[in-house]
Amino acid sequence: MKDTRVLLGVTGGIAAYKAAALTSTLVQAGAIVDVIMTAEAERFITPLTFSSLTARPVYTSLWDAPERIPHIRLVREAHVVIVAPATANILGKLANGVADDLLSTALLAARIPIIVAPAMNSAMYEHPETQAHLQTLSERGITIVAPESGFLAERESGVGRLASEERLLDAIRLVISSGNGVLRGKRVAITAGPTREPMDPIRHLSNASTGAMGIALAREATARGAEVTLILGPTALLPPAGVRTIRVVTAQQMFDAAIADATGADLTIASAAVADWRPAEQSAQKLKKSDADLNVRMVRNPDILKTLGERKGGTFLVGFAAETQAHEENALEKLRNKNLDAIAVNDVSEERGFGTVENKLTLLFAGGEREELGTGSKPLLAARMLDAIAKRMEAAK
Ligand code: CTP
Repeated sequence: MKDTRVLLGVTGGIAAYKAAALTSTLVQAGAIVDVIMTAEAERFITPLTFSSLTARPVYTSLWDAPERIPHIRLVREAHVVIVAPATANILGKLANGVADDLLSTALLAARIPIIVAPAMNSAMYEHPETQAHLQTLSERGITIVAPESGFLAERESGVGRLASEERLLDAIRLVISSGNGVLRGKRVAITAGPTREPMDPIRHLSNASTGAMGIALAREATARGAEVTLILGPTALLPPAGVRTIRVVTAQQMFDAAIADATGADLTIASAAVADWRPAEQSAQKLKKSDADLNVRMVRNPDILKTLGERKGGTFLVGFAAETQAHEENALEKLRNKNLDAIAVNDVSEERGFGTVENKLTLLFAGGEREELGTGSKPLLAARMLDAIAKRMEAAK
């Protein structure tokens, strides 16, 4: 952490006092910490606490700093910004672009990695609105350090306690170390999202994938200096700005794009949920209904990843396996079958995976090693996944 510049945002929750302990640990580890407090945070803890710990001024308002636009300078100078504790209010503001005080203004101006650590009453945390905001933030690449379960200020148990200091430090370290250089200048191809197999002009067969994991991987690889091509199926999610994105609809189109763009890449990650079959016939006109049942004959789609495995060359090839049972056995079978270097195993039986904020992944390598990537937001897991892959790519050189 030596000389790492951390901007810490403290918002108004009972866990604000824990931000003081975090500040102290960061300072002891050699980080330079600037603190922004919201007006509500000042009701729980005083700026003096933080300025004593950091030996630096603490910022509480857009208007009382010695300079006119402190929010821009603070986010330019920092390497990372972490909001801990983050109230439902600041999450809502950040997700919706509301900038009405120093912290929310600084967050909106930030072009550096953002980490938020929610802490609030469990009913507020579980409220669909809060969850929707977290989903939005996660999709934008913001790291969310999920709260823990335990005793809350309301003298009841539930989820909503600020994550442990260890987890907050882990998230900061991960974000800081992610520019470790292995992927700089490398060509990376990523398939993501579902595919859509039309029956007629308005009906199709598809699946629940949103492409969030592949988009997070593309964003993370780009942040690490890779030249990324994202081959993205039909999803409402936006690809990251600045990533060369090829939009496709069907498995065949994804196959064609992948063969053209992923061949010869340094790293290819197939995160797409490709439809295994497509209707044998596609009607040019809308099929008119009748009282009879409809039988649709389905034919196999090409296996993109398998084909890439057959023409692998020097590419480090990574697949995903979404399993509900015998996870690792099935995944290893896929790894061998498709000639992969690694496979990320996603347990979709635990209400994780498709369309969820949090995910749980294990990475298995062709050499027999395994790496538990744990549970977390897709951006966080994308970062961990690229860390683990970069390590193996480096070792294989
Ligand atoms: N994949 C692909 N092209 C396909 C099908 C799958 O590139 N036509 C890739 C996926 O992107 C993923 C991996 O292969 O990386 C998944 O392998 P797959 O054999 O399809 O397994 P699952 O879909 O997980 O499940 P199952 O074989 O059990 O149906």
